[in-house]
Amino acid sequence: MEITVREIRLGDERRISEIHFRHNSFFEEDYVSPDFISECLAGGDFNFLVAESGGEIAGFCGMLYHLHVGRAEIGPIAVEDGFKGRGVGRILLEKAFDLLKEIGVLRVIVKVKAENSGALGFFQNQGFTPEGRFENYTRTGDSVVQMVRFI
Ligand SMILES: CC(C)(COP(=O)(O)OP(=O)(O)OC[C@H]1O[C@@H](n2cnc3c(N)ncnc32)[C@H](O)[C@@H]1OP(=O)(O)O)[C@@H](O)C(=O)NCCC(=O)NCCS
Repeated sequence: MEITVREIRLGDERRISEIHFRHNSFFEEDYVSPDFISECLAGGDFNFLVAESGGEIAGFCGMLYHLHVGRAEIGPIAVEDGFKGRGVGRILLEKAFDLLKEIGVLRVIVKVKAENSGALGFFQNQGFTPEGRFENYTRTGDSVVQMVRFI
């Protein structure tokens, strides 16, 4: 399976929104509309990478930058069910790190719902270390674990 990763293009918003919606229990927002994705991109401090296989978007990874202080936050990140466990998430993160390094980011964090053991395992496997737990963090009362990786 050949996977290519590129930055988001106009028209990708709908597919990202669909994949996000199917995974919404893992995220803080229930529904991220295509328009909301466009608004995030217009702010200039947020970007999306998408992974494609056979012309189909198989997953995506968002990145929020704080460039003046060399920090960034990964997320949301999700891979379609048919593509999970095949290296798509890893390739998305590798490309995200390449891009973040290029623009001067040194410290990358991700916040994962504490009960999302799959994502906690995935990020640990990708070199992230847990550095704190925030109780009752989301408006629906989920606790989250913050993980960090220096790049
Ligand atoms: C988490 C997620 C993005 C991982 O993507 P993926 O494409 O399935 O993961 P990959 O196949 O690239 O896995 C990469 C590596 O992480 C490891 N890994 C994946 N899931 C893991 C888990 N549950 N526990 C431990 N390691 C895991 C893989 O074994 C692989 O290791 P290797 O490179 O040494 O072989 C995907 O499962 C997903 O979309 N989850 C639902 C949404 C979600 O939870 N997002 C994160 C919210 S913060």
